[in-house]
Amino acid sequence: MERRRYVIVMAAGSGTRMGGSLPKQFLEIGGKAILQKTIEVFLEACPGISVVTVLNSDYIQYWRDYCLKHNFTCPQTIVAGGFTRFHSVRNALEKIPEGAVVAVHDGVRPLVTPSLVREMFENVAEIPALIPVVPCVDTLKVLQKDGDELRTVEGAVADRSVLYAAQTPQIFHSELLKSAYSMAYDTMFTDDASVVQKYGKSLSYTMGERLNIKITTQEDLLLARAVMSLRVKD
Ligand code: C5P
Repeated sequence: MERRRYVIVMAAGSGTRMGGSLPKQFLEIGGKAILQKTIEVFLEACPGISVVTVLNSDYIQYWRDYCLKHNFTCPQTIVAGGFTRFHSVRNALEKIPEGAVVAVHDGVRPLVTPSLVREMFENVAEIPALIPVVPCVDTLKVLQKDGDELRTVEGAVADRSVLYAAQTPQIFHSELLKSAYSMAYDTMFTDDASVVQKYGKSLSYTMGERLNIKITTQEDLLLARAVMSLRVKD
C-alpha cells in the first residue's frame, strides 16, 4: 500500500542573520510570503499532501492572519517550534503517523522545483532516507577565529572532491525519522540526515539543485527574487 505523504515545513527560526524585525520566512518574494511560496511548491508537486507548518509561537497568529488575508486556504497543521531546529522537527513529528513518508523542508527554500520534489517522493517507496546534495564548487578552508582575525587550522584540509552541501527536502519513512528523533539532542544535528546517520541508519543521496538556496542573507533574498521573476517570464 502506498504511504501517505506529509511535508514538515520548518519556519520557526528567528531569521536574525537577515537583519530587520520580520523573520525572513515572512518577507515577500513574487508578491507572496516566502513561506507561502515554499508550501505551494509541495502542493503543486503532490496534490493532497498533508502540510505541517512549524512556527515560532510568537508568529502563529501572524501566520493565521496572513493566510486569511491572502486567501491561502490550504489545510495546514500548525505546530509550535522549539529551541533549535532539532526540537522544532521533533515537535512536528508528533503529528506524523508511522507508515507514512515525510519530507522535512526549510521554509526559506522556495526555489526548489516541483519536479525534484515529485521525483524524490516517487523514489522513496523502497528507500528509507533520501537526501539531496550538490557538489562543492568552492575551495573550502578550515579556519578558526582569533578575535577579529581568521587563522589557518594547521593540518586541517577540506578535500573538495568528497564534499557536498546537503539541502532539503530530506525525505524519510516516518517510523525511521520518529525513532531517530527520540535520541538526545546533539549540537552536531544541523539537519535531519545527521540525526538519522547518528542513529546508525544508512542514507541515500540524490542530486539537488544549485538554485535551491536557503534564503539566509539580504544577498540570498535578492538572488531568489531575481530567479523567481525570471522563472515567471519563462
Ligand atoms: O537556522 P537554520 O538556518 O539551520 O534554519 C533552517 C530552517 O529551520 C529555517 O527554515 C528555520 O526557520 C527553521 N528553524 C526552526 N526552528 C528553530 C530554528 C530553525 O524551525 N528553532
